[in-house]
Amino acid sequence: MRTPIIAGNWKMNNTIKDALELVNGIKSQELNKDVEAVVCVPFTAIRDVKEALDGTNIKLGAQNMHWEENGAYTGEVSPLMLKELEVEYCIIGHSERRQYFNETDDTVNKKIKSALAHGIKPIVCVGETLEEREAQKAEEVVKNQVVKGFKDISEEDIENIVIAYEPIWAIGTGKTASSDDANAMCKFIRETIGELYGDIKENIRIQYGGSVKPNNIKELMEKSDIDGALVGGASLKSDDFVKLVNY
Ligand code: 13P
Repeated sequence: MRTPIIAGNWKMNNTIKDALELVNGIKSQELNKDVEAVVCVPFTAIRDVKEALDGTNIKLGAQNMHWEENGAYTGEVSPLMLKELEVEYCIIGHSERRQYFNETDDTVNKKIKSALAHGIKPIVCVGETLEEREAQKAEEVVKNQVVKGFKDISEEDIENIVIAYEPIWAIGTGKTASSDDANAMCKFIRETIGELYGDIKENIRIQYGGSVKPNNIKELMEKSDIDGALVGGASLKSDDFVKLVNY
């Protein structure tokens, strides 16, 4: 039985003041306890959000991290720094980081390994562009991202990873993949995990991300292989985020 996981990816939004307003808005409402709710917040707001979340079931996440513990990497944040703030999840390899900050499957792999070694659960993003989908290459691209991203990761560790399938053409565009297409790719990802790790594939949680809103979450979550959602825009409004968690 896979516990559903709804994670908000705030991206580069919310000052500390805005972040607290949003979290307090979420906290003030009843959340389905059978669903894991996570907020992935900007580094600058982590400490304050952590305090605000104390005593709730809402989990704290970051949006990126370096793989080294420390060193001459100006502007980067290390797993030790996140651990100190009791961050439980970290998004790794989001398409925006791959696209704008040159992240590769190799750096994604290093980050996943480092996160796991520090007890941080990675939410690993994969997904194809529109051109790749139109050229019938979506499965090939996503499989490649999974195989390379998960290189040398042990069977023991794999269960602490959440995978987010986020087709790039559906992010922030209002174009959601149809629930059938989203499910087909999540199923394909699960099969790929099966090829690499065997039956453990049934325990791995796979989220869909890309224009998930309160009005389409239910249909997505009803699908066999979609175990949650990674949500951008709709996670920035407390009422919408609560509706997503309470789908
Ligand atoms: P939107 O929900 O705004 O489309 O963003 C999806 C996303 O990139 C979550 O990581």
